[in-house]
Amino acid sequence: MKNKNLLFARTYEQAMAGSAGRECKPIFHLAPYIGWMNDPNGFCFYQGQYHLFYQYNPYSTEWDSMHWGHAVSRDLLHWTYLPVVLAPDEFYDAQGCFSGSAIELPDGKHLLLYTGVRDEGGDSEKTVQTQCAAIGDGTDYQKYAGNPVIDESTLPTGLSRNDFRDPKVWLEADGSLRCVAGACDMEHLGRILLFSSQDGLSWKFESVLAENDGRLGRMWECPDFFPLDGKHVLLVSPQDMLPEGFEYHNGNGTVCMIGRYDGPSKRFIPEADQAIDYGIDFYAPQTVLTPDGRRVMIGWMQNWDTCKLSGTPDRQWFGQMSLPRELSVRNGRLFQTPIRELEQYRSNPVSYRDVEVQGELTLAGIEGRLVDLEITIRPSDASRLYQKFAVRFAQDERYKTALSFRPHESTLKIDRKFSGSRRAYIHQRRSLVPQTDGTLKLRLILDRFSAEVFVNDGEQVMTATITTGLAAKGISFFADGQVLMDVTKYDLFAEG
Ligand code: FRU
Repeated sequence: MKNKNLLFARTYEQAMAGSAGRECKPIFHLAPYIGWMNDPNGFCFYQGQYHLFYQYNPYSTEWDSMHWGHAVSRDLLHWTYLPVVLAPDEFYDAQGCFSGSAIELPDGKHLLLYTGVRDEGGDSEKTVQTQCAAIGDGTDYQKYAGNPVIDESTLPTGLSRNDFRDPKVWLEADGSLRCVAGACDMEHLGRILLFSSQDGLSWKFESVLAENDGRLGRMWECPDFFPLDGKHVLLVSPQDMLPEGFEYHNGNGTVCMIGRYDGPSKRFIPEADQAIDYGIDFYAPQTVLTPDGRRVMIGWMQNWDTCKLSGTPDRQWFGQMSLPRELSVRNGRLFQTPIRELEQYRSNPVSYRDVEVQGELTLAGIEGRLVDLEITIRPSDASRLYQKFAVRFAQDERYKTALSFRPHESTLKIDRKFSGSRRAYIHQRRSLVPQTDGTLKLRLILDRFSAEVFVNDGEQVMTATITTGLAAKGISFFADGQVLMDVTKYDLFAEG
């Protein structure tokens, strides 16, 4: 029977309804309906609402045979689940329906462009990756009979057919389509390939848009490419990164390159690069252009190096998306701010100004695990810099997660050692936050099992998931030295 695996997955979702209920999930961060989630896919605005698909294994909380889960939202914060849309059930995607993107076609239909993974055949344990299409109405999708729509024969010579994935499609002003996909050479060094199409089904190779000279990891996954504030931005998620100062860390990283697009050569010329997120859990982001012209990014709020065994055994789900973040380029750097829609869901403000922090301090009314916290600090005496300032949250006698700032080193550290994890993977990361006078501005958003920290109006972001039980909801402040602090806390509330 056609689509047997999809029908099976839909029936399974129905049977499991409620077992990964809302009470144990984040409120504003999309988590899988049931089972495992990784990358955001097909992030788009279609027929009056946002659609967000995701890499999905409904059957367990571990990565396995990849499906596409589906949710919709009007404000990018409250998500309604729709049934799973893609399951591996054709020869060209039998090993998984990997990441991809979506776009509305001129006739109003919805096109999903995804990576189909199949066995190479013979004795090889390798798989071949091609780009495939499915067309639908926002709920149900049919895989295109002519799949794959971009196969390995399109690859420039010297590129591997085993790593060719994650197409991101967009509409050009003249109505034609473009897409970028990740590939790599035989040394495993990433290439970003550019393709064009008139109808989304027949694609032409245009150019190698960008290539990895070996400095930024190896294979580049999940590319996204768009104009922003007079520049062009290329986002990639490199595998096997080596650290570079405070900028990049080992393992799976995220990179934002800012530069320009050279029309005649169809190449991207990078002028600067930086990490997208300086925390622990962020990978494979994808953007959407909103109807009012904002470039909004969502990432998988997890990282391959830290996700093994981090699910708690009693949880029926694993993986979350980050908050949607509005992007801009200022002074050659990427800025990110939480989407402004979040402000509609802030209530019960509690504010203090000019609080003297010396040692540890708690403030009446400032606590919670579903909060938006704005903090500004400066030295009490401008001529005497303090040693350290910290804010601790998800705190009780046993647990705490901390952000600490050392102005003499200009480093901001996130530390989640005491957040309920029983595993020994990375729990701390430091970021360089240039300053000379001990001033710092933080916006910390907690949504039950995560912390996202927007530093100095979004110049840097640090993201980490936590597994701390919800009873630990204390928030405290600490200074070694003397700090003056302004702080405002809002509770976040969900609609309906
Ligand atoms: C990135 C990634 C993608 C791939 C998908 C598979 O996290 O490895 O390159 O399409 O996950 O689930």
